[in-house]
Amino acid sequence: MKRMWKALSRLILAASLLMGCTARVEERIGASPPVEDIPLPTPALQGTMSLEETLALRHSVRSFTGDPLTLVEIGQLLWAAQGITRDWGGRTAPSAGALYPLEVYVATAEGLYHYMPQGHKVRVESTADLREALWTAGLKQDAIRQAPAVFVITAVYARTESKYGARAERYVELEAGHAAQNLLLQAVALGLGGVPIGAFHDDQVQSALSLPSDHAPLYLIPVGHPQE
Ligand SMILES: Cc1cc2nc3c(=O)[nH]c(=O)nc-3n(C[C@H](O)[C@H](O)[C@H](O)COP(=O)(O)O)c2cc1C
Repeated sequence: MKRMWKALSRLILAASLLMGCTARVEERIGASPPVEDIPLPTPALQGTMSLEETLALRHSVRSFTGDPLTLVEIGQLLWAAQGITRDWGGRTAPSAGALYPLEVYVATAEGLYHYMPQGHKVRVESTADLREALWTAGLKQDAIRQAPAVFVITAVYARTESKYGARAERYVELEAGHAAQNLLLQAVALGLGGVPIGAFHDDQVQSALSLPSDHAPLYLIPVGHPQE
C-alpha cells in the first residue's frame, strides 16, 4: 500500500512538472511578437528607359509630392538594391567574397520593413511611422520627412571581417555605394527621384528604428515622386 502511494505521488509530481513546463513553453511562445512577412511582387526585368537615359537623368531629388509609393515600386527598388539574380544567391550588387553584409530597410507612413532577399519579401519590423524620428537623426534634412519612403542601407561588418579582417571596412562601404546607386538609378527608371544621405547621427538612426546592434546604418535614401 505504502509502495503504491509512493508510485502515485511520483506520477502526480511528474504530471505537474510536465504541465508546468508546457505552460512555460506557451508563455515563451506567447511573449515573442508575431513575425509578419509580406511577399513583394515579382520584380520587372525590363523597363521603358535605357540605362544611358537613366544615367543622364539621375540627379539628387530632395523635394517630393505627397504621393505614396506602391508596393510594386517599393519591391522593385529593394530588388535593385539587393535582389537575388543568380541561382547560387548572387545579387544585383556585387559583394566582396559574396558575403553580403548589407541589410536594407524601408520606412514609410505605414511602418518599418526589413528586406529579405531570400524569398523577395519584407519583414514588418514596426507599424509606426518612424520617418519623423529619422528626420531628427538625419540633421532635420527635409527630404527625409517629406519622402513617402526612406530606404536605409545598413551593414553587418562581421560578415565581411570573417574573411577579410581590417580590409572589410573598406569593402562593406564600397558595397553600400553599389547598392545605393542601383536603387537611385532604379528610382529614375520608375519616374521617381531620391537622394543619398550620409549626414546623420548613427546612434540616433539605430535607436529610432530599433535596429539590431550589429546593423550599422550607412545611408538614408529618401525616395518619392519629384516635386519640380
Ligand atoms: C557619400 C555621400 C553623402 C551624401 N550626403 C548627403 C546628405 O547628407 N544630404 C544631401 O542632401 N545630399 C547628400 N549627398 C548628395 C550630394 O550632395 C549630391 O550627390 C551632390 O550635390 C551632387 O549632386 P547630384 O547628386 O544631383 O549629381 C551625398 C552624396 C554622397 C555620395
